[in-house]
Amino acid sequence: MKTVAILYGGKSGEHEVSLRSGGAVFSHLDRELYVPLLIAVDHYGVWYLQQNPCFEEDKKTLTIHRNENSIVSVIPGLGLFYNNKKIEVDIVFPVLHGTFGEDGTLQGLLELAGLPYAGSAVLGSALGMDKAMAKQIWIQSDLPVVPFSVVNDKSATHINNSLDLVIEKFGFPLFIKPANAGSSVGVTKANSRDELEWGVKSGFKYDRKLLIEPAIEGREIECSVIGNSEPVSFLPGEVISGDFYDYDSKYIHPESVKLSVPAHLKDNLKKEIKAKAEKAFLAVGAEGFARVDFFIEKETENILINEINTLPGFTEISMFAKLCDVSGLPYKDMLTEIIHLAEARFEIKSKLIFRKE
Ligand SMILES: Nc1ncnc2c1ncn2[C@@H]1O[C@H](COP(=O)(O)OP(=O)(O)O)[C@@H](O)[C@H]1O
Ligand SMILES: [Mg+2]
Repeated sequence: MKTVAILYGGKSGEHEVSLRSGGAVFSHLDRELYVPLLIAVDHYGVWYLQQNPCFEEDKKTLTIHRNENSIVSVIPGLGLFYNNKKIEVDIVFPVLHGTFGEDGTLQGLLELAGLPYAGSAVLGSALGMDKAMAKQIWIQSDLPVVPFSVVNDKSATHINNSLDLVIEKFGFPLFIKPANAGSSVGVTKANSRDELEWGVKSGFKYDRKLLIEPAIEGREIECSVIGNSEPVSFLPGEVISGDFYDYDSKYIHPESVKLSVPAHLKDNLKKEIKAKAEKAFLAVGAEGFARVDFFIEKETENILINEINTLPGFTEISMFAKLCDVSGLPYKDMLTEIIHLAEARFEIKSKLIFRKE
């Protein structure tokens, strides 16, 4: 039996989502192979070992117990400790969405601790998190992306000039989004210069770098990918939402959104999306698992990549898991597969030498 440390919660705006994603991993982990160990990360970023895992009344959302004696520390080269005792862990399964979980920072910490962990490593996580960097790499790999302009948090004159250029280039409506965020936090749609200025101001609360894009009219398609150097994509799904797939429609009123699994797509589109998802995954150096999101433009049926999520919503009813399930990989086996991929990567990396022999 191997011990799997499940990290959940976190400092990001997606803390609450992670309480559910972590709960799903805990509940479904194959008990014939693994012993789960819960480590909660609170809103301040402090780690607590959960000796007695607890769920909310819904039996799906994990709670967090903060006890000074159960604070976990990470010691480079040595691993995880609490109360001066080493926590024996075979592998870490981080289920922390967004900043400090999905962006490479946590992955760096786990690398220093010398622990194998599930999902993308430092580079894949960091590139996948930064929507502008990911798109630049996809453009270089001849992959089609939603056009975008970048605005940095500089002077008012700089921003004004940038906005003039963006309006001239794309017209309205426009989407404004933080380069590094998720769950639609800080994402707004603008139909006028005033709305654009407001959206930019509000976006800068979440990041120092924003993307402004033309609003794409069409279908929103998502594709799960699993693997390391030879990633495999699953049948794509479709998100059918109202105006756009904002935070409220993701988490507050999920009934307003329909997930079509698998999406009704012509064979050629399905094939193209699957191939592009695998290529996009490899291009940013993603590993383990990720969900690649697309638009299919209404008139032309052009396929455009919107973004990659290296730690997508991870409950058993999230799009990522549903797509694996409908293609024949149930949640429990999907977790085992991801753990095997993490172990395989760790083994290869452990054989590398870091100084000349
Ligand atoms: N350029 C765009 N055109 C049309 N809709 C968009 C565009 N960009 C984002 N959206 C809408 O906003 C949602 C959230 O934006 P997204 O780029 O996926 O960021 P997040 O990482 O927060 O999910 C998308 O699911 C989509 O509904
Ligand atoms: Mg998205």
